[in-house]
Amino acid sequence: MSDLTQLGYLISAVLFILGLKGLAKPRTAVRGNLLGATAMLLAVVVTLADRQIISYGLLALGLVLGAAIGAALAVRVQMTGMPQLVALFNGFGGGASVLVGAASFVVALDLDDLPLSTTTGTALTVAIGAITFSGSLVAFAKLQEIMPGGAISEAATRRFLRGFNVAVAVGLVGLGLGLVLDPSRPWLWALAALALVAGITLVVPIGGADMPVVIALLNSFSGLAAAMAGFVLDNSLLIIAGSLVGASGLLLTRIMCRAMNRTLTNVLFGSIQSSGVTLGADEIYEGKITSSSAEEVAMILETAQRVAIVPGYGMAVAQAQHAVRDLTRSLEAHGADVVFAIHPVAGRMPGHMNVLLAEAEIPYEQLVEMETVNPTFEQTDVVIVIGANDVVNPDARENPDSPIAGMPILDADRARTVVVIKRSLSPGFAGIPNPLFALDNTLMMFGDGKAAVEEITRALADV
Ligand code: TAP
Repeated sequence: MSDLTQLGYLISAVLFILGLKGLAKPRTAVRGNLLGATAMLLAVVVTLADRQIISYGLLALGLVLGAAIGAALAVRVQMTGMPQLVALFNGFGGGASVLVGAASFVVALDLDDLPLSTTTGTALTVAIGAITFSGSLVAFAKLQEIMPGGAISEAATRRFLRGFNVAVAVGLVGLGLGLVLDPSRPWLWALAALALVAGITLVVPIGGADMPVVIALLNSFSGLAAAMAGFVLDNSLLIIAGSLVGASGLLLTRIMCRAMNRTLTNVLFGSIQSSGVTLGADEIYEGKITSSSAEEVAMILETAQRVAIVPGYGMAVAQAQHAVRDLTRSLEAHGADVVFAIHPVAGRMPGHMNVLLAEAEIPYEQLVEMETVNPTFEQTDVVIVIGANDVVNPDARENPDSPIAGMPILDADRARTVVVIKRSLSPGFAGIPNPLFALDNTLMMFGDGKAAVEEITRALADV
């Protein structure tokens, strides 16, 4: 590789790192994204100029096809379908690494030029990449409801699958060693096939509620697979970029597990289960629900000094973010201080609420994280919960028998008045009732998130 290419790769790697750093904060995220894109462009140009490209025609065909599929997906996919799209992309990343690793291995095998870095790199690329590919496809199918999305909760089946997965893991190590010690095609194909099985049996038992964590983990795997492919191809930039993806995916996985008070092992091999007897929805709600109207809510809001809005998955479903912005402006015109209380796992993907609110041009300064906003709820006049449920379930804090016991929540119930906007008393992702809805200081406003918020804004203009 020429010095110029190495220099290009070095600049590209630095740009990737600066880009990632920029992405850590909303204010610098756009710049970070641009830096990352520039790094990618530079990497592609340098590679095209330096490497032995076998067929530019085929490359152009791949580019056109990929761009067409990507553009079509980007236009068609709903915001609520984003997690499964990310899963699919991770899967394709893992699959691409397998193909690149395997092809390079086969070429090296035919040339009888197989240093340890190529054989070890191939074994790791193929194993991690194939697990990522099949695991991501299962995650996609579950979230897209092509296959049942629930967790396998039957103890015997889970036990069997756990044992099976241990056996598969041992098999993968054995086949990987076989490939390194005796490089040949049969080891390669056997390793790829078993890794595909491993991806399936790893993700199948996991329920939809835990899928975003699994997707973050698979994202990390896709980066690791690319990094390993970098060793096979002897490409330093691929090693660096893949490692960055691998590390950031792992960090994200950790942040999400913490926000749900779970360990990664529990997400992968456990299941959300009640440790005792919890009350049913009827017992919690019967005779204790206060329904309200837009007019009544507007009257309360009219005199409110401090309002906190808690967005959740329902806001994404209703696409209510623009209506929420209009309500915010109207409240501010009435003299209220408005903040958005953001739970780290509100919605269905990391940063889900931040993205939606940014799209509606709500200033970042108004978005307050859980630890900062929680102590302020007692001084808050009104909390408006829009399509959120689990993230404001006080049972997590107060009921040690609850399936979500210990999950940090937004203490919305401590505000003077809580207005909850949702269509019914249906549970959220965790599938459990929420005592918040039955509190004396809670008003339920039943309806679609967007329509309800628009009604409140209209009513506020009339008071
Ligand atoms: P959820 O607890 O899932 O509740 C969403 C609520 O939105 C539902 O109760 C639903 O009630 C309501 N809703 C749905 N469509 C609506 C519409 N059109 N208008 C108004 N309301 C609507 O959401 P959350 O509070 O955001 O919590 C997120 C959950 O996902 C947590 O359990 C979390 O652990 C899990 N999770 C998230 C992530 C990430 S990264 N975000 C990762 C792993 C797990 P109705 O049907 O009655 O309307």
